[in-house]
Amino acid sequence: MKAIILVGGQGTRMHPLTDHLPKNIVPLCGVPFLTYQIEQLKKAGIQEIVFSLGYRPHDIQKVYGDGRRLKVKIHYAIEKEPLGTGGAVKNAESFVKGHPVVVLNGDILTDIPLKKMIAFHKESQNTATLGLVRVEDPTAYGLVLLDRRSQITRFLEKPTPEEAVTDTINAGVYVFEPGVFDLIPKGQNYSSERGLFPGLLAAKARFGGFVWRGYWQDIGTPRKYLTTHWDVLNGAFKIPMKFKALKNKVHIGKGVRIGKGAILQGPAILEDGCVVGEGARILPCAVLGKGCKVGEGSVVSKSVLWEGVQVGEGVQLEEVILGRRCLVPSHSRLSPGSVLGDDSQL
Ligand code: GDD
Ligand code: MG
Repeated sequence: MKAIILVGGQGTRMHPLTDHLPKNIVPLCGVPFLTYQIEQLKKAGIQEIVFSLGYRPHDIQKVYGDGRRLKVKIHYAIEKEPLGTGGAVKNAESFVKGHPVVVLNGDILTDIPLKKMIAFHKESQNTATLGLVRVEDPTAYGLVLLDRRSQITRFLEKPTPEEAVTDTINAGVYVFEPGVFDLIPKGQNYSSERGLFPGLLAAKARFGGFVWRGYWQDIGTPRKYLTTHWDVLNGAFKIPMKFKALKNKVHIGKGVRIGKGAILQGPAILEDGCVVGEGARILPCAVLGKGCKVGEGSVVSKSVLWEGVQVGEGVQLEEVILGRRCLVPSHSRLSPGSVLGDDSQL
């Protein structure tokens, strides 16, 4: 089987982080996000993947090329104008023609067992199967109602609080039979959630839901992006860490320098070349990208600093996200929840 990953959204909810980087390749614990999805597809035996995209395609091509480095084959279906979640699937059709396909929204992190989901799809003889998860607040997602035989009876994208009659939502993981492509208009902006799925229901197609009760997160807002880091660092989502771990769960890259009296408390990550000043404290859920510098006496906790961030002396950073090469002067204040784009200077 082959897969299509939708990576064309402009990431507006992630602004300003996504002004210079598509959200699908923002670093998660030092690794471009899509790599996790590629690894998940590989685990299910899928080695040929189409990235369907339009926004900053070269940034993504620069990271993944033809996929050889990750031992997969990657194709790029590039759209001139955003085609929407359905149009983007259609635009990738020529690479997967005639075969069933797995489709992933390119901004979700989940351990949904794809092999089991594909087996369920086949056993149920579905035309389309959606992966489903349960969340506390379904209003930001596509709400799904199922009957007793796991067939979908209703799909409602972004319901109002009154309409939210279930907590089961579309996880952004699909298995489609080839016939699904015939239901999507070509070359038009078309939404799977507002067009294709209601259309499958209207046509009384076999349209099933595979409920997953494991880990699931959409990383598409700064808050969720931050809390996903905490989940990974706390072990709720398992990844092979690429940096060596000290015994207090501090993962350290090469050439990291730690000043006298500095305290490191895990779980935390300090990538290659980070410098921690005297008496500074790197506290749980701090992630410091390559070459970050934290000045004397400064404290970093529950924050994500992309590469090259320079923090002066006596600064407290808690629950902030700082883009590449941000400069935070000594003794300045940033309130929790702050998000600064690349190259910001306070
Ligand atoms: N190629 C392409 N072109 N990709 C697109 C486009 C487009 O025009 N628009 C969105 N995408 C990609 C995004 O990059 C993302 O990976 C995926 O499609 C979903 O788009 P989002 O903008 O993140 O949608 P959402 O999070 O509001 O809602 C979707 O995901 C939820 C689960 O996270 C819907 O599918 C919901 O039903 C679902 O619950
Ligand atoms: Mg999303």
